[in-house]
Amino acid sequence: MTVRAFRGEIVSVPHDPLTDPQAVRHDPDGMLVVEDGIIIDRGAYAALAPRYGDVPVDMLPGLIVPGFIDAHIHYPQMDRIASHGEQLLDWLDRHIFPAEKAFADRAHADHVAGLFLDELLRNGTTSALVFPTVHAHSVDALFEAALDRNMRIISGKVLMDLGPDGLADTVDSARAQSDALIRYWRGKARLGYAVTPRFALTSSEEQLQAAGQLLVDHPDVLMHTHLAENERECAEVAARFTQAADYLDAYDRFGLVGDRSVFAHGIHLSDRACARMHESGAGVAVCPTSNLFLGSGFFDFTQAARHGLKLGLGTDVGAGTSFSMLHTAGVAYQAGLMRGHRLDPFRALHLATAGSAALLHIADKVGGLMPGQEADFVVLNPAATPLLARRTAGADLAERLFALQILGDDRAIASTYVMGERAAC
Ligand code: GUN
Ligand code: ZN
Repeated sequence: MTVRAFRGEIVSVPHDPLTDPQAVRHDPDGMLVVEDGIIIDRGAYAALAPRYGDVPVDMLPGLIVPGFIDAHIHYPQMDRIASHGEQLLDWLDRHIFPAEKAFADRAHADHVAGLFLDELLRNGTTSALVFPTVHAHSVDALFEAALDRNMRIISGKVLMDLGPDGLADTVDSARAQSDALIRYWRGKARLGYAVTPRFALTSSEEQLQAAGQLLVDHPDVLMHTHLAENERECAEVAARFTQAADYLDAYDRFGLVGDRSVFAHGIHLSDRACARMHESGAGVAVCPTSNLFLGSGFFDFTQAARHGLKLGLGTDVGAGTSFSMLHTAGVAYQAGLMRGHRLDPFRALHLATAGSAALLHIADKVGGLMPGQEADFVVLNPAATPLLARRTAGADLAERLFALQILGDDRAIASTYVMGERAAC
């Protein structure tokens, strides 16, 4: 049994400030007590220190926040970030599908998976819901690399029987490989599985049906896909699924809309779809840098709030332009304003941590820095650049968080801790 303590300014937002006025937890001079990677106590240093007199204390200058939780990202796309010139469907054909074909080679998958997880840690991200490729071994590569780093990672083989040559599975192979992966990886370390149809346009109705059946057979896994991102995509879905009320309904008809469903984007949603999502408990991974990069549009935070939608924040690399959840939260603020919404910095931090955790059904484990949770946290340096230093000097907590959100990126990550251990990255 190892007990350690960390002292510094601690802030977390375990609940949504939109609905809970007590959402923010702030200890200006705080202490986190960690036993074997689990937080066993948290509070003011002056109150806790006498109780843990013989426990070694690490001083952490800066702002201690929960490790970031990226609710939607693609590891095989990391080397195609910043690929010029196209909106979604042409971007997939020209840049992404060729890159994903290279993951037929397991050694390539292993290599990229390691680089990818180290880049997450370097940016302060300790948990993520990750798209791999259609290849079953792309999941093994990611999960093995996550085991090496003790990270909380959720992923699942991509289902795409209508995908391009060299990147398409079949209904039967998708079902059998997903089932085998779920059974093999279930309960291992900090890993979780998500049934992952790429999007409505790359799966046959039979495959969407099979995905729904996998969720019935394995009620502990998530469902992860894309929804209503791009106008041409939406038009093609409407043309193909003529019986469906809207894009969400095309998934709903196959049992893919429920409490454990995570939909990336949701830029073009009907009120009916929002109401149905709320009723079912499904939620959206908001991916603002991706939505700007591919010219998809701006997420409507006002509509989402009206319907009480469950939200998390995702980078969506490689359409997303940064691994940094600070930067992503900064762009979320700007995207929000484009549709008349003022995302406040505490809610932004919530979305990047406990909000994403709730969406991914891991909020009992991470995201709030509360006793009983795993000690995944980040030390932010509010003086990481000369400009940040000037802007945050003497500023109150809300102003410092907002400055970090707008000006911060990987440079502001002083250190990343995974289950109480400093990550080497
Ligand atoms: N829709 C279907 N596949 C993808 C993808 O790889 N990235 C994004 N942003 N949207 C998608
Ligand atoms: Zn995506």
